[in-house]
Amino acid sequence: MQVRIIRALLDYFISSHYCQGMFYITDENSTSDIPKGDFVTSKKLLELINNAIAQEMQVSIQYMWQHLMAKGIEGATVENTFRETAIAEMKHAENLAERLAFLNGVPTNNPNTVHIGHSLEEMLKEDVQAEEEAIRLYKEAIQVADKEGDYATRRLLEEILSNEEKHLDKFGKLLVGMTSPFTQPQL
Ligand SMILES: [Fe+2]
Ligand SMILES: [Fe+2]
Repeated sequence: MQVRIIRALLDYFISSHYCQGMFYITDENSTSDIPKGDFVTSKKLLELINNAIAQEMQVSIQYMWQHLMAKGIEGATVENTFRETAIAEMKHAENLAERLAFLNGVPTNNPNTVHIGHSLEEMLKEDVQAEEEAIRLYKEAIQVADKEGDYATRRLLEEILSNEEKHLDKFGKLLVGMTSPFTQPQL
């Protein structure tokens, strides 16, 4: 099981530029002479982007593990959703890390604490909570980026926010479907 998850994540790492952005930059005080336009990114915005990277890495690991841990008939119906969402989250982390490096920040390589859950219902509750936290974080970061006139970062954050809202909708529907009886619509 461990081999499968590590292989899935490594396949993605190897096929992307993610490793360059995440692990090769070690000097936190490094600055670049490359011109970046007329804006200066605040420490607050850099921290928010790094918080988002840590959150994205957390849920990428979380969902990939849940993909492997989901059992039974219900598990069989959602395991691919976990896997697809895990890969989408890793792409978010990659895009944010690239943006942060462009802004002369240093992307973190420490994910937030992973919460797997002991049943499918617990897993989905953890995931709904994680998506709600992500949405709050992106909304705050978008406001800061907008205030600083960093429209490219704002656009990236808005695109990711839109994805997170879809994830929340999907996990929320799966959770409600597990805990509520199906009712036929009245025609
Ligand atoms: Fe994400
Ligand atoms: Fe998400």
